[in-house]
Amino acid sequence: MKMNADSLPLEFKERMKKMLGEDAKAFYDTFSEPEYVGMRINTLKKGALDAVKSVCGELEPVLWCNNGYYVNKEIISGKHPYHMAGLVYFQEPSAMAAVSALTIKPGDFVLDLCASPGGKATQAAEKLCGEGVLVANEIIEKRSKILAENIMRMGVKNAVVTNETPSRLSEKYTAFFDKIIVDAPCSGEGMFKKTPAAITEWSVEHTYSCAKRQKKILAEAVKMLKGGGSMVYSTCTFAPCENEGVIDWLLSTYPELELINIELDGLCDANGEWVNSKFDLSAAKRVFPHVSKGEGHFVALFHKKGDEKADLQMQKTSQLADIYRNFEKENLNIKLCGNVISFGERLYLLPQGINIDNIKTPLAGLFLGTVKKGRFEPSYALCLALSAKDFKRSKETDDAEKYFRGETQKTDIQGWTAVTYKGYPIGFGKGADGILKNHFPKYLRF
Ligand SMILES: C[S@@+](CC[C@H](N)C(=O)[O-])C[C@H]1O[C@@H](n2cnc3c(N)ncnc32)[C@H](O)[C@@H]1O
Repeated sequence: MKMNADSLPLEFKERMKKMLGEDAKAFYDTFSEPEYVGMRINTLKKGALDAVKSVCGELEPVLWCNNGYYVNKEIISGKHPYHMAGLVYFQEPSAMAAVSALTIKPGDFVLDLCASPGGKATQAAEKLCGEGVLVANEIIEKRSKILAENIMRMGVKNAVVTNETPSRLSEKYTAFFDKIIVDAPCSGEGMFKKTPAAITEWSVEHTYSCAKRQKKILAEAVKMLKGGGSMVYSTCTFAPCENEGVIDWLLSTYPELELINIELDGLCDANGEWVNSKFDLSAAKRVFPHVSKGEGHFVALFHKKGDEKADLQMQKTSQLADIYRNFEKENLNIKLCGNVISFGERLYLLPQGINIDNIKTPLAGLFLGTVKKGRFEPSYALCLALSAKDFKRSKETDDAEKYFRGETQKTDIQGWTAVTYKGYPIGFGKGADGILKNHFPKYLRF
């Protein structure tokens, strides 16, 4: 069924008319237009922008995100080797605004509390440049695994994926994070075009119950933010009882929070009058599809006053750490910083300064590999987190698809070898007896 303004719920249209007045028609008209598709170029991968341009040609930038671009997915899709190698993350352009608004610095401790599938988490990881910690949490177990996959594909070295409720996390990580992202579950009005099922699930009551749930999540986030830290709250809905209504509640409930003006190009001011707020809420911003080139988002940035902060935490190193460190000496030109920990046979590199005891962690840092009968087998995640120069042995392929299908190659190389496509690692192979055995994970094969 083709989407247009007639497909929209009547109460939604009436509310938008009250909010936008004579601009409402231009807003409704956007529902007959094709949706905006965006991608971020992974700044953790050197030269990625030029590589992607060699496939796509010149790219139109997203105004509010310095590594965001509009994309035609017929030219570069999820199966393209550059996507498989983590050079690209497809993300709806307006969704890029939230992390752009948050000034994350290398070394920060960052929490993304509602993180799956990982658009904002991987964007935050890019800003950390491998230093500090990213905790990417997702409450739904199945979705936390998708999040872990995306973090591994993007070659992030310093992220922990957790699968907890916000209240379980806040017990352990009180006043612990410098930066927090709360991209809250919402009524999803900005998704109507992409996921028409969101229209059938929509009701006025649902927008109010989403606002209530967002407040509960944000209350836990405020506990986890250090004094002097910043928090971004975002949604992909237009409903003011969520958005402006929620930030009005935050400012009334937490005098330690200040709303900070977001200085990004191409966005519109939020409007406190829509919820009769006593505060000026124009520092928060909206992406409206009839004004900006995006499907719709709301973003508010807060600073927390005070100096409350928790100490760094310690985690016990695994007795199996030497097995990895020996592999590293023999096969890599780099020594990775972090604490080698283990869960059964699986080894991870946990970033320094955080303890994850009693926390459900589908990904406990960089997944290094598995110890099998005393021998270490490196993971695909380790390969994607490194660059070609970090490996003692690498083998370039001009047919990445063959590798993704699990095929072997002829080689004289002996031992663990990074397979690269145009210089970017795409997975491990192991050379023996003239053959490079394919170690691309079976569950990801084409
Ligand atoms: C808008 S999505 C997050 C999108 C993600 N930030 C991104 O950029 O890819 C909101 C997420 O919140 C999760 N969620 C739902 N209820 C939650 C709750 N009570 N507490 C925390 N997260 C919740 C959902 O499972 C969903 O993955």
